[in-house]
Amino acid sequence: MEDLKDIKNRAEKEISSARNNEEIRQVFQKYLGKKGEVILILRSLKDLPEKKKREIGKLANVIRRELEEKIIIKKKAVGATDEKNKPKKKIDFSFPGHKLITGHLHPITQVKREVEDIFERLGFSVIEGPEIESEWYNFDALNIPANHPARDMWDTFWLRPKESKVQSPKSKIKNKNQRLLLRTHTSPVQVRYMEKHNPPLRIIVPGRTFRYEATDASHEINFYQIEGLMVDKKISAANMKAIMERFFEMFFRQSAKIRLRPSFFPFTEPSFEVDVRCLVCGGKGCSVCSKTGWLEMAGAGMVHPQVFKSAGLNPKDWQGFAFGMGLDRLTMMRYKIDDVRLLYKGDLRFLEQF
Ligand code: FA5
Repeated sequence: MEDLKDIKNRAEKEISSARNNEEIRQVFQKYLGKKGEVILILRSLKDLPEKKKREIGKLANVIRRELEEKIIIKKKAVGATDEKNKPKKKIDFSFPGHKLITGHLHPITQVKREVEDIFERLGFSVIEGPEIESEWYNFDALNIPANHPARDMWDTFWLRPKESKVQSPKSKIKNKNQRLLLRTHTSPVQVRYMEKHNPPLRIIVPGRTFRYEATDASHEINFYQIEGLMVDKKISAANMKAIMERFFEMFFRQSAKIRLRPSFFPFTEPSFEVDVRCLVCGGKGCSVCSKTGWLEMAGAGMVHPQVFKSAGLNPKDWQGFAFGMGLDRLTMMRYKIDDVRLLYKGDLRFLEQF
């Protein structure tokens, strides 16, 4: 008992004379640490007779709690003075600042702007159209009536019919086909534009398009196209080939090899597929070009008389060509990307490269 009171007196004196955290820590270790004096007494209780055990145990626990409280109070007091005595931080104004991390445009946006710039230099205007389109503009006005097998090529996502509000005054059948959908191509803008603007005209229409189809290295359900349309009195397929070749040369800054394959689109006659020699593999064959050495970049052809009619123009007065190019595929060729899906994952490790 005497021992315990002596220990308590010594500990209290040492706590009150401690000047900093380190000295407090040492006092704590000496009395309340694993081998501290109070703790050793508590541990030796088991060897004492029952009566002593209760008496000494009770007192040792009281002393332990009192000392712990005193140490906490002392710590707070020392902490406050420590803070006051801390030397003030000096600021070095000549030290170089932190560099701000800035983002950059998505590779598709970069390519889109470049394509727009090239076509503007070739005399084309840049026009936009709605991503939510009516069945009329996406299909019927482009000579793809309901139940035409060509609709299968452009399977898409349909919206609830009651939201339909599109008005198109120039055709009687239009009003029947106001169901809304996510446009499958940028071609509807051909009719939209010609309804409001008389030829001669040269436009390109960059924009987002959607298809309900399985994805692979060169197909996404959400992708971008650039539509081209040139209409005048005497426009031929030769004009189309010249413009497209010039565009690919300017875009790839090298003589890009293109080929026209006969094809079918209900809104052009004749119709072509425009292929570019694959720049990812140099024509040897890879996953992007499905081992063919060629990558289909665009559909194209001479504007079908029915499209002029849909827009309220007399097909006898006008001739024109149109094309629809895959902007994602241009981006893939520019940066030698071997899977279109990478462009939409939003993975910064990938996007930071461009
Ligand atoms: C069309 O969409 C026609 N509207 C193009 C056209 C316009 C023809 C004007 C004639 C006149 P097509 O479905 O082939 O055609 O698509 C055109 C281009 O879009 C393709 O050559 C390809 O580069 C790109 N494309 C098509 N589907 C996908 C897809 N799922 N993912 C990425 N790019 C695609």
